[in-house]
Parts: sequence; C-alpha cells; structure tokens
Amino acid sequence: MNHSPPNLTVRAPGRINLIGDHTDYTGGFVLPMTLDLHTTIKGTFTNERVWRLESESHGTAIIDLDIERPHQVEPQWARYPAGVLVELRSLGTPLRGFTGTVSTELPIGAGLSSSAALEVATARVALNGLPGDSRPTLDDVALARACQRAEFTATGIPCGIMDQLSIITGEFGYATLIDCTSLDVTRVRIPDSVRIEHRFITSRTLVGSEYADRVAQCREIESTIGPLRQASIIDLDRLDSDVLRQRARHVLSENLRVQEFVDALSRSDFVEAGRLMVASHRSSIDDFQTSTPAMDDAVESALREPGVLGARMTGGGFGGCIVILHTT
Ligand code: GLA
Repeated sequence: MNHSPPNLTVRAPGRINLIGDHTDYTGGFVLPMTLDLHTTIKGTFTNERVWRLESESHGTAIIDLDIERPHQVEPQWARYPAGVLVELRSLGTPLRGFTGTVSTELPIGAGLSSSAALEVATARVALNGLPGDSRPTLDDVALARACQRAEFTATGIPCGIMDQLSIITGEFGYATLIDCTSLDVTRVRIPDSVRIEHRFITSRTLVGSEYADRVAQCREIESTIGPLRQASIIDLDRLDSDVLRQRARHVLSENLRVQEFVDALSRSDFVEAGRLMVASHRSSIDDFQTSTPAMDDAVESALREPGVLGARMTGGGFGGCIVILHTT
C-alpha cells in the first residue's frame, strides 16, 4: 500500500432542482442548481490493480479494477465508484490504481444527489490519473452518460441524466436549464432579489421506491402516444387508463412550467415563479403521486412564512428536501 501524502484532490457538488421533476427521462426540461456542498476524494495513484477508498464514517472499500459486478460491492456506498470504474473501462479508458479517502458535506438520502456527486468525483479522479495522450475525449455529456449508467449498474435505478449533467456543468449561483432531448445546457442567473433555500424534511432512498414504476409508466405512455416531449394534451385521450393520463399530464404540464419559470425569472416576475413552484408541487401530489404528507405539510408551512414566494418538493420524491423561493 502506498503511504505517500495525497497528491490529488477532486470535488463534486450536490444539487437541488428548482423545477422540472420526472421530466428528464422522457427528454423534457429540468432546472437544477448545484449547491455549495461537496463530496471530496483525496488520494494518490498506485501501481496496484485496485482502488482503496476510505470513508471516515462508512468504512473502507476495496474495488478491483477488473471488477465485473459493481452492484455486489460492500460497503454499499462503494457501488457508485465501482459502477463508474466499470463504465469508464467499458469506454476503453485505461484505469490506474488509487488509494485515498472520500468525505462529503452532503447529507445522504436527502435527495441532494450525493450519489451522483460521488460518481462524478470518482470519474474526475480516474480521468486525472491518465497522461494527456491516453485520456479519452469525453465531453460533459459523455461523462454524464457514463455516470448515469454507473448509477443504474450500481443500484438498478433507471435514473435520468439531470443529476449527473447538472453536477458536471453547474456553476454556483446559477441554475442550469437542461433540454433533456438535445442535452443543451443553458446557465440561468438567479437574480439578487430572490434567495433559494433547501430544507431537509425526511430521509428517503430511490432504491425500492416507486421511482422505477414511474419510469416504466412513462415508457408505456410513450409506446402508445410517442415521445412525451412532443405530445399535447389531446394525445392523452388515447391512453387507456386514468393513472397513465395523470402521469402524462404531470410531464406535459411540468415541461411547460420549467419554461415559464425561466421566463418569469428573466422578467423579474418572482410571484409568478413562486406560483409555478407551488403548481409543480401540486402536480407531484395529484398527478405523479410522488409526494408524501410530510413533504406536503413542509411545503404548506414554508408558504406561510414571511417573504416566501413558492416552495416544492425537489428531486425524485417520496421524501428528501423541499426547495423554497424567498424574496431578499
Ligand atoms: C432523481 C433522478 C433524476 C430525476 C429526478 C426526478 O434525482 O436521479 O434523474 O429523474 O429523480 O426529477
């Protein structure tokens, strides 16, 4: 084992989503924003064929660079870096051994994408270890795709690309509008007259949640009416169940809300921006059914606070954090 002091430090932030949830995996619009809370990996490259990563509070992982089954790695958090190494290897990236520590300022299971931050930090370490001429040319989208596939390989969650792409491209103080069809990314400035707060409400995990069911329902909808991104409300009559109509209505209305929200910010119409957040939350209750009573109570109580313009649950749902828009 190599005991020299760490000569590499990389960081990747967590994210909240201002508006646009459960729209990324059908090619819709999302508006996430990176946080000033990071996951950090520090360490040194070695000549061994393993990664040894030590987490102060969650144990040490030893990941063989020839690993085949990242979803079986223990401790469980190490499945994410293992998944990333497998994905990078399958892209032909030469991998080097590494020994180091991992730490995070992000609460785990709070819906702030600590897993995507760990994936992106891992990928940054792995790519850093390569001399310039053997580094694959992975642009932001290709890197985000590799990390998205790693999440699926590691956990079986068929997540969209929002978390990984926003973490890779995000800039603190700006939101990131992502068109999940073209994968165009546009920086959206958060005006000084508003402040965004995230507030932790309850722990959750998407593993074993209904997240995968929602993705499957959206696929079923698209097999009948074609891409949701291009669908209109009349197309929903062709769906043969109320539940599928509700799910589709959420996606169509949420895609519109994201665009209207960006427009409202640009016009400094913050009251409208807040209204759209509340409408988005309502849609997650009534149509997408990803909210919980605890999250609804938290949104209601935030909306009663002075200076609050809007609030909604953020991220995959079933718990986690709410995001609140305040006047300054
Ligand atoms: C999770 C997934 C994202 C996205 C959100 C919901 O965070 O990882 O891809 O689908 O849920 O918007």
